[in-house]
Amino acid sequence: MYGVVSPTHENLDRAAALIRSGELVAFPTETVYGLGALALDANAVQKIFVAKGRPSTNPLIVHVSSFEMLDEIAASVPSMALTLAKQFWPGPLTLVLPKRDNIPSVVTAGGPTVAVRMPAHPIALELITRVGKPIAAPSANRSTEISPTLAQHVADSLGDRVSLILDGGPCARGIESTVVDTSDLSPRILRPGSITREQILNALALDDSLGERTAQPAHDGESVARSPGQQERHYAPRARVMLLTSERIDQLPQSDATLRRSYLLCSERSRGDGSVRTLPRNPDGYASGLYAMLHELDRISDEIVIELPPRDAAWEAIHDRLRRAAHPA
Ligand code: TXA
Ligand code: MG
Repeated sequence: MYGVVSPTHENLDRAAALIRSGELVAFPTETVYGLGALALDANAVQKIFVAKGRPSTNPLIVHVSSFEMLDEIAASVPSMALTLAKQFWPGPLTLVLPKRDNIPSVVTAGGPTVAVRMPAHPIALELITRVGKPIAAPSANRSTEISPTLAQHVADSLGDRVSLILDGGPCARGIESTVVDTSDLSPRILRPGSITREQILNALALDDSLGERTAQPAHDGESVARSPGQQERHYAPRARVMLLTSERIDQLPQSDATLRRSYLLCSERSRGDGSVRTLPRNPDGYASGLYAMLHELDRISDEIVIELPPRDAAWEAIHDRLRRAAHPA
């Protein structure tokens, strides 16, 4: 590993040269850090799966920096997808599209579709532009671990398994992109994410009642074939995670001194035992800090008690990630 480096012109050139020669480079996006390789090079992409310990059944997102690059990998772009791309790109939206034959099957887990996103981060866009080719990139963490929102998280999780890490500071959005399949007449949200269901439906001028019926998120089992990578245990700390309402937290007996317990709260309440951290009670602020907080609490505790955030639709992606974090190993 050449280390964690700042994104100077020189280092961006170095990163682009490494990717072009088939190596892995981690880079910041507005959602989480990505682990990048040349999307059209099967050997390079294979290295991503090895570095992450990722099952070969879980397809990757391909990142582009222009609409011309999109045309290099998508066989067609349905009008619904184009509407969404025009509205949300560059940004935290991933579109599942029919793939071109040039995409190695390792990228798409053998499937006929490819997931594509144009990230809204200057360093990510600059890197893709300098490489001049689409970059396949999953989150830059070992499989099932918490996604990285700091360069240090990548170094801690992947170490020598990555050639270079470009440090762009903390990721502003903090949770992964929304994955949308537009291959049917009505869109399907395969993974809730940074862009809300409401934003997607508004952009397509679909009303909420239609959305309720047509755009339900993927639940494991139900949509295995559609979104093969959605495992129930994902984004999970090593510590035991308990997801509780504020009332249940107030009733929780004090932990004994041998248990290192911590609390992740989104409202004012006091606990005498363990370390207490608080995230803002609004979905954007909460998402932005969530993974860094989980990384930190995972280092210092055996048990993380998380207060359930509000139930409204704007919190959907956060509930999804918390539920996965709390899923037993
Ligand atoms: O924000 C993000 O999306 C980040 C940054 C780095 O761009 N990337 C990311 O990648 O979260 P990853 O590999 O951790 O998650 C990719 C998700 C998985 O749930 C996978 O199943 C789904 O996208 N996916 C990829 N290709 C697909 C396809 N062809 N059809 C359906 N789902 C697909
Ligand atoms: Mg991931």
